[in-house]
Amino acid sequence: MKITQRTFDAVIVGAGGAGLRAALQLSESGLRTAVLTKVFPTRSHTVAAQGGVAASLGNSEEDHWHWHMYDTVKGSDWLGDQDAIEFMCRKANEVVIELEHYGMPFDRTDAGKIYQRPFGGHMSNFGEKPVRRSCAAADRTGHAMLHALYQRNVRANTQFFVEWMALDLIRDAEGEVLGVTALEMETGEIVAFQAKATIFATGGAGRIYHSSTNAFINTGDGPGMAARAGIPLEDMEFWQFHPTGVAGAGVLITEGVRGEGGILRNSAGERFMERYAPNAKDLASRDVVSRAMVTEINEGRGCGPHKDFVLLDITHLDPKVIMQRLPGIREISIQFANVDPIKEPIPVVPTCHYQMGGIPTNYVAQVVAPSGGKDAIVPGFYAAGECACASVHGANRLGTNSLLDLLVFGKSAGESAAEDVKKSAKAHKPVPQEAIERTLSRLDRLETQKDGADVRETLLAMQRTMQNHCGVFRFADKLKEGVARILDVQRDAQRIGIKDKSKVFNTARAEALELDNLIEVAVATMVSAEARKESRGAHVRDDAPDTPENPNGRDDKNWLKHTLWFKDGNRLDYKPVQLNPLTVGTIELKKRAY
Ligand code: FUM
Repeated sequence: MKITQRTFDAVIVGAGGAGLRAALQLSESGLRTAVLTKVFPTRSHTVAAQGGVAASLGNSEEDHWHWHMYDTVKGSDWLGDQDAIEFMCRKANEVVIELEHYGMPFDRTDAGKIYQRPFGGHMSNFGEKPVRRSCAAADRTGHAMLHALYQRNVRANTQFFVEWMALDLIRDAEGEVLGVTALEMETGEIVAFQAKATIFATGGAGRIYHSSTNAFINTGDGPGMAARAGIPLEDMEFWQFHPTGVAGAGVLITEGVRGEGGILRNSAGERFMERYAPNAKDLASRDVVSRAMVTEINEGRGCGPHKDFVLLDITHLDPKVIMQRLPGIREISIQFANVDPIKEPIPVVPTCHYQMGGIPTNYVAQVVAPSGGKDAIVPGFYAAGECACASVHGANRLGTNSLLDLLVFGKSAGESAAEDVKKSAKAHKPVPQEAIERTLSRLDRLETQKDGADVRETLLAMQRTMQNHCGVFRFADKLKEGVARILDVQRDAQRIGIKDKSKVFNTARAEALELDNLIEVAVATMVSAEARKESRGAHVRDDAPDTPENPNGRDDKNWLKHTLWFKDGNRLDYKPVQLNPLTVGTIELKKRAY
């Protein structure tokens, strides 16, 4: 069957921070650039980023990119690639100042400089004491960032396709990426977007878990499409549980609250983080704080009738600070927890927040995948932001390095793509008909499997399996059982059909297509987690004890390597961590403590 084809120099999937930053780079260099997005750009999930963007501007006290790099490597539990981390930390000041010049309304210090607040794991002088590194626009930094980038893109003539969902990557027999197939959600029309450069900036897939700070649109579309096109997913076992989701609702309460002086307390009113992280206390790295909270709850010191949350206390702060620096948090607390944090502490629990792994890229955002026994750049394909794995976050991301990641690697993706497009004098390669047929047959399957599984039930089964078998603490037997269960759910997902067509809205079809992507991410996560027999960063197993040889259960001798999961046969492979930075010496391995 023939479908409409549209041709651009570059097509970007996703209009969050990474997609918009990449698009800007391409449009401003004169290339015809299309951005496909499921929601209006300023409603992308970047809008939910609250506390800030990390950069060692040193506006309030001395800071240095090398200290930032050290903190990021340590935060990653040494799984991050040190070349990419150096690149990101060195670029931070440039991309933040650029954003300021685009009109981003940062808060200001008394001296008129960008306001910076402390965040977990950000320290001065190679881990000595907390430093103010997170550049903030109150507690709405992501929101302000999206508006600044979107307006700039409008000026640069980026062409937006709003409420369009990308369905599959188009690759030819040589493995070159030639664009994507996509669905216009309102009309159901399927179009092939042909491009010399395709950039994925689709965000995370936190919706594989039942309790998540992620928006409903975060369905792993990029990793799902990449996996179906034969590209492996890297380090998918590493998921960040943010310490402070509103209990029962999952909505994010920024770590900036603790940056402004907030304290976590158990049912005895104790500031328990002093026992777990005597130096950094409430501002230890997120994995450390989340595990401490779950331990308090598991040992009976949780709060409330079911003793299943702890309290985040800011009642000692001046209400003026709360109104000026944390106005959104006050609103969220009132709406979702029914407490005014000026007067009462907020009930919080760790909640799935961020995917550290993703589509493997190098530090200039080109996708790399094994080919003929070694890593090779996939021609025409780039990825940036949460869907990508550069890998700067390794086994655990530091707060506010996510907005930095999307600015630095969004810009890099745009630069790399622009350079490659301009170099190639050739016309667009033809779109292979098999690629179109693959997409059409996925749609056809939904229409014809009338007695198939139900989307909503299958989604819930997946989310419960992930929550119960692959959470903050992981257990060998649970992981093993989890693999069997998630493969069962995957089989159900293959049988999904739209049953009663008279009740079908386009959203039903979109949800089923999204589940195709979520399930790839869920399987990759469970299989990769079951196989990694150590504890590192956010991946903590009961059978990997803390010993002198393996500090905190981390086994560098056997496991200082990246996981690669291939959809084909659920196969795993591994590749070395890049321990050599670009210009400075390696940050040597040591026990991680805060
Ligand atoms: O806590 C927060 O404001 C979240 C920031 C982040 O995930 O980087």
